[in-house]
Amino acid sequence: MNDIIDVDYREKIPNNVNLSEDRRVLRALESWHPGYLDWWKDMGPEGFQESLVYLRTAVSVDPKGWAKFDYVKMPEYRWGILLAPHEEGRTVPFGKHYGEPVWQEVPGEYRALLRRLIVIQGDTEPASVEQQRHLGKTAPSLYDMRNLFQVNVEEGRHLWAMVYLLQKYFGRDGREEAEELLRRRSGSTDKPRMLGAFNEATPDWLSFFCFSFFTDRDGKMQLESLAQSGFDPLSRTCRFMLTEEAHHMFVGETGIGRTVQRTCEAMKAAGLEDPHDIERVRALGVIDLPTIQKKLNLHYSLTLDLFGSEVSTNAANAFNAGLKGRFRETAIEDDHKLESATYPVLKMVDGQIRRIDEPALTAINMRLRDDYTGDCQKGIGRFNKIIERTGVQFELKLSHVGFHRHIGEFRDAHVTPDGRVIDKAAWDKNRDKYLPTAADGDFIVSLTKPVAEPGKFASWIAPPKVGIDNRPGEFEYVKIAA
Ligand SMILES: [Fe+2]
Ligand SMILES: [Fe+2]
Repeated sequence: MNDIIDVDYREKIPNNVNLSEDRRVLRALESWHPGYLDWWKDMGPEGFQESLVYLRTAVSVDPKGWAKFDYVKMPEYRWGILLAPHEEGRTVPFGKHYGEPVWQEVPGEYRALLRRLIVIQGDTEPASVEQQRHLGKTAPSLYDMRNLFQVNVEEGRHLWAMVYLLQKYFGRDGREEAEELLRRRSGSTDKPRMLGAFNEATPDWLSFFCFSFFTDRDGKMQLESLAQSGFDPLSRTCRFMLTEEAHHMFVGETGIGRTVQRTCEAMKAAGLEDPHDIERVRALGVIDLPTIQKKLNLHYSLTLDLFGSEVSTNAANAFNAGLKGRFRETAIEDDHKLESATYPVLKMVDGQIRRIDEPALTAINMRLRDDYTGDCQKGIGRFNKIIERTGVQFELKLSHVGFHRHIGEFRDAHVTPDGRVIDKAAWDKNRDKYLPTAADGDFIVSLTKPVAEPGKFASWIAPPKVGIDNRPGEFEYVKIAA
């Protein structure tokens, strides 16, 4: 087994998988490449294809120092195929094949299931680029614009990662799936993306930050569980993707954090004590905290739907087969087979929310979702620290998992953000307190005026603590082409 850490950039398609010696896959990727570029030009960042962007490109899969930074026009970004290093003697870490050597080829009996997992993951990658394509025009700074584009090119690379697996391991139907990934469109009525949250609009920058905080974090959880896979090429691919994903969540978390910070600072400077005095807070040119809370409620609840039904035989099958594990599977102390274990699941029983023990195997989605919630909760805690430091009296909260759901146990229930079950009439009456209204959206859009002068930031967001690649505050992260 070859083990290449450095990436070959002499090739048209940079890679560390010895593509030049794999003619069949190289040809398949080369014939897919022009369609990908057409897709990028049609659906990638609108209006900035000619601009020079200070981007990082992976030059190695060594976790320490894999990136190099330079100005690049996005269509010329070197999207490549990068797998984390092969681990000698790796065994299937869970399911009924626990302890057997991992597979380097697709096990015939799991082919359809595995292909579906890869296609679903692959579909989310271009979807988010499509959702975010208009945002460059309203970027609150060049720093933020650059971060958006960095996320976009890396989501493009994640699509390459999944397409490589499809073309290398799934023959003709893999190639067809790879084409389909370029044909679906976020929000389209006749050919939508596969998952709900990836068809929602991302109309403004706070939405983008919330998306990166919540939805890219779902991406992290999915990649973490696929990184456990007994199908070794999938595991290695996902392990490298996770190193890129960390930056996406950084963008989301610091974006929301800087928004919160700016709001609190403006309130303090103006002597405003009441965070709920929305009119006066907004008059300062910042986003009031209750509206930020509503945005969090919306994006968290939409993202929870991506975890699927709490109790799921599909999830059980993927676990049993050794294809998709749990978050940090190898660090969990149990038999990794879950034949007789149970896991508590929140359910609606006689109109009430109850915790019911279910077979752990069918509750795999619930468990991943719980791990996700814990991860989100820590982020919310850090936002509250920012608020606390400014002395403003307000606490952001993660809404209850039953709130505003469209999939699973709570889809027909009406649950408040703090977890009370109410009737439909009461929910309808209070909806505008829980979720952003059209007027809230209009207000946010009205603030998101573009700022393209180096070192300057829009009124509603604080500057970052440090620059990307340690660049100084005045650094021109994007040289915008006229
Ligand atoms: Fe991604
Ligand atoms: Fe991402």
